[in-house]
Amino acid sequence: MAADRACPPLSVRSFDRDLKWRTGAEIVPVHCTSANGFRVTRAALDDAYRRAQRRRLRVKGVLITNPSNPLGTTSPRADLELLVDFVAAKGIHLVSDEIYSGTAFAEPGFVSVLEVVAARGGAAADGLAERVHVVYSLSKDLGLPGFRVGAIYSSNAAVVSAATKMSSFGLVSSQTQHLLASLLGDRDFTRRYIAENTRRIKERRDQLAEGLRAIGIEVLEGNAGLFCWVRMGSLMRSQSFEGEMELWKKVVFEVGLNISPGSSCHCREPGWFRVCFANMSAKTLDVALQRLAAFAEASGKGAPAHRGLAGGPARTMSCPVARFSWANRLTPGSADRKAER
Ligand SMILES: Cc1ncc(COP(=O)(O)O)c(C=O)c1O
Repeated sequence: MAADRACPPLSVRSFDRDLKWRTGAEIVPVHCTSANGFRVTRAALDDAYRRAQRRRLRVKGVLITNPSNPLGTTSPRADLELLVDFVAAKGIHLVSDEIYSGTAFAEPGFVSVLEVVAARGGAAADGLAERVHVVYSLSKDLGLPGFRVGAIYSSNAAVVSAATKMSSFGLVSSQTQHLLASLLGDRDFTRRYIAENTRRIKERRDQLAEGLRAIGIEVLEGNAGLFCWVRMGSLMRSQSFEGEMELWKKVVFEVGLNISPGSSCHCREPGWFRVCFANMSAKTLDVALQRLAAFAEASGKGAPAHRGLAGGPARTMSCPVARFSWANRLTPGSADRKAER
């Protein structure tokens, strides 16, 4: 909840960086739990609102990511209705970060919050349309983070005016605009691109989830995003945030994988981690799973099933690593990647 500052259900770390550090806004997390697959509830929203009030913060709005980072799930329409009801009742804003909207590969598909608002009659619904905003960028769906191109969809004249003024500090070059216009203007290409991209995301996610489950790691059912939300408590020496950080460091330095600890996303249950598989070949993923399986076995925690996975023992790493996101030096060559396609 962005309060003077509001609240993301399980927020991404970048919210702290993008929202808090630059503007001084406070973020009050909406605590979601594993009991219902981390879905947002009215009670959780009310609780966050009360915590913000106790801190004498003036709540300005709710911030969500749909599809969710770190969960890898789309928000069901019912959850969006709940969120819209909440902001309507409180007279606050709702900002939906839909940067992963093109990654949804299974049911229930992606529903934009703007569809929910439109179904309520748009502007007629008590100024609601002016208080619901969507942010988007080409960084994830098109894999173009280096282009630095994004968009704000808002019917609020003040928001559009402020964004227009701010954008003059980061204008998109004419060459980039020209390239993107021809790319995105090609309907046939975009249709085929999204179909192929989501097919590959599903394939890679299935491979990862299957491999993790074989090691004995619980994986939250997901249908979008570039990551899996997993429970690795069985590999922790203590069921605490200290135990979580200890495991994170071990996996970074001994296994060579960087799997984000849930505490960095404000998760209140120790033991949850975000495993990112973006831009990873099947071979690299295999290597990673083999190393994690060997690590689990060495810790005496691996499920028997993982022993069937091929591959040698985990190698000790002393160099910095890429994210679950894997150690670059174990990444197969580009020839392997091409061969896979
Ligand atoms: C939910 C979400 N929003 C925004 C961003 C930032 O993306 P960009 O590269 O467009 O700055 C990220 C990046 O990880 C993200 O996960």
